[in-house]
Amino acid sequence: MLQKAMGSRKNFYDGSRKMNRYLNCVEDLLEDESVLRLDSYSQHIGTSRLQHSLNVSYYSYLFSKLLGCDFRSAARAGILHDLYLYDRHTDKTDENHVFRHPREALKNAAMLTELNDIEKDAIIKHMWPLSKGFPKYKESYCVSAADKYSAALEFTFQLGKKVKNFINAS
Ligand SMILES: [Fe+2]
Ligand SMILES: [Fe+2]
Repeated sequence: MLQKAMGSRKNFYDGSRKMNRYLNCVEDLLEDESVLRLDSYSQHIGTSRLQHSLNVSYYSYLFSKLLGCDFRSAARAGILHDLYLYDRHTDKTDENHVFRHPREALKNAAMLTELNDIEKDAIIKHMWPLSKGFPKYKESYCVSAADKYSAALEFTFQLGKKVKNFINAS
């Protein structure tokens, strides 16, 4: 069922053994209702928050494997790092979104699964260096780096699509 859902994400799921080993780390999270709801929120122009979370999770997994640290915790924190269920443009509060959403994500994540210390730290510090204090674990740095890397790729991909459409239309 999970692989069927992934099949519609042609840019993400390639069906390889490496991808399936990654999915084993996060499979239970991807069946959760609140995680799937992230698909209805836009994160970066045309990328949904669920797709962004998958991107961050997969790169966190790869970076952690490269560094020989806890890739499972990093992959899980990547799925959960933006688990806030509001639109930041319409649902504004006095608190800056940069500081608000990691706390919301941590609260929601703790309701759906048991979190270890690495996962908690990686979620709450993923906006580092904008977060208060330094991350405590290597895995948290992996998630924070994967977040920025994914955002850059998502912006570039969407920009490329817009330029292509513009050229085709003119
Ligand atoms: Fe975030
Ligand atoms: Fe993010």
